[in-house]
Amino acid sequence: MDSLDSSPDRLVAETFVARAEHHVELGSTNDRAAELGRDGGSLPALVVTDRQTSGRGRGSNRWWSAEGSLTFSIVLERDAVALPPDRLPLLALATGLAVREAAADVLSQSGSDSEPLLKWPNDILVGDRKLAGILVEETGGRVVIGVGLNVNNTFAGGPEDVRVRAMSLIDLSNQEIDRSSLLVEIVRRLSDEIELLGQREPRIAERFARVCALSSRPIRVRVHERNVDGICHGIDETGALVVRTSTGTERILSGVVDSFG
Ligand code: BTN
Repeated sequence: MDSLDSSPDRLVAETFVARAEHHVELGSTNDRAAELGRDGGSLPALVVTDRQTSGRGRGSNRWWSAEGSLTFSIVLERDAVALPPDRLPLLALATGLAVREAAADVLSQSGSDSEPLLKWPNDILVGDRKLAGILVEETGGRVVIGVGLNVNNTFAGGPEDVRVRAMSLIDLSNQEIDRSSLLVEIVRRLSDEIELLGQREPRIAERFARVCALSSRPIRVRVHERNVDGICHGIDETGALVVRTSTGTERILSGVVDSFG
């Protein structure tokens, strides 16, 4: 199995990250990154682990990382992300674009024709199986961006209920992937995306539309206690999901897409 031991040196030398740590095992990389955000050291700081034992996702989701997966978090000063408070959800979408592109490159280089797509707001899917999840949290003037990406952790031979829901790059490409290089690539793309968010026209809706798993499909979105049913029309420039229902157009800022046809 490839190793992540040399990742911290490479990340500091080759990306915008000022310091980085590798751990064999951690509870949650988002929690460790939040600690780094509080310790007064330079930021952005990155934490990557081989195994995560109590990873969190959105809402009540959990993220358990097996050997071979890529599990990391980056903590940044909140001011380093030029977005007003009501636009912070765009950061998760921009992270999705960065991770998706890096994963798509790995797949096309391996000769695979599988295409990862984005499921608003924070999932990357291949077909309807989850390849990656993203969790952005704001804490004490900083933002923590957490990414869990299934890379060399194969689901082949795993339990049926997991195989129908999860997918990994090794299962799609039939080859082991160098996680250190992939991590460097993701972080480079992420810093470009963060820079773009600060520009007057990040064109995020247009870029998201090209790789949106839900566009033009019938969807059901759970918004607090109510369901919104309709056809997905991508996102708008604020990061809201646009759904055309029988009574008009709804813009959903926060919700869970329960089903899509
Ligand atoms: C989701 O599917 O709801 C998002 C999952 C996000 C998981 C990542 S793994 C790295 C980081 N640390 C955590 O505890 N969670 C995120």
